[in-house]
Amino acid sequence: MHLWDRIRSLLLRGLVDDVDRLVRGYCWEVYCGVVSRWGWFERLRFVEEVTGGVGDRDRGLDWDFGRIVVCGCVVAWPEVVRRFGRVFEVGTGVGRTCYCVLSCREVSLYVTVDVCAEVLAIALYDNPIPYFQCALWSPVVKVVLGDARDVVPVLLRAGFRFDHIIHDGGVNPEKSWYLYTPDFLEKLVSLLRRGGTMSVFGGRSPRVVDRVYKTLRELGLEVETVSFPDAPVRVFHCWKR
Ligand SMILES: C[S@@+](CC[C@H](N)C(=O)[O-])C[C@H]1O[C@@H](n2cnc3c(N)ncnc32)[C@H](O)[C@@H]1O
Repeated sequence: MHLWDRIRSLLLRGLVDDVDRLVRGYCWEVYCGVVSRWGWFERLRFVEEVTGGVGDRDRGLDWDFGRIVVCGCVVAWPEVVRRFGRVFEVGTGVGRTCYCVLSCREVSLYVTVDVCAEVLAIALYDNPIPYFQCALWSPVVKVVLGDARDVVPVLLRAGFRFDHIIHDGGVNPEKSWYLYTPDFLEKLVSLLRRGGTMSVFGGRSPRVVDRVYKTLRELGLEVETVSFPDAPVRVFHCWKR
């Protein structure tokens, strides 16, 4: 049985702990067999290509931890996460947004999905920022390996619902447009319980930002557009009334 078929079958039965164990084990194999052979610079370059960076390079400063976390908090929007709430995230990356939520809030479940096994292997086993690695090893965090377009319908079918969703998937909405279609965003909104909140990374392109904003409004969400503190990067903070 292929890995995704096993993940899908476990998710359909609500066995997210088993999925997490399976994925962490698989990523360890990827770490040992692939990632550990890469040099430090190669890993950094790979992470940057796949994630689009984590807000570290705008001023030419390498790994400005303060800026990385400030931008992560704009994306994760932890201040609205309720105590013991359930969080779902598209785009685990190196775990920055996970760290931003878990360092501010006590949640009961944090399900995070990423399509790239190598990025998950780096994030879980040799993270350039150890605080992010620690967050990803919190017992409430459940890591799913898969394409969010496949995972979200399975979670819906299995009856999962969340209080807060973080959509930080893809490099950016221009390149990863397939994660910003009305169809995919509608499915994400369906995963959100009434009264829940969702944060959607909007990127820099005014044309794309306008289109995503319009789609979110058409899906019935209340939307506020916020920016990174020092760059014209937009994030949508949404409420499902
Ligand atoms: C901007 S990064 C996420 C950064 C992360 N939230 C953090 O703050 O560290 C985007 C991530 O989305 C993942 N991704 C791209 N396409 C995806 C898809 N179709 N389904 C799930 N994840 C995807 C990439 O592998 C990448 O790690």
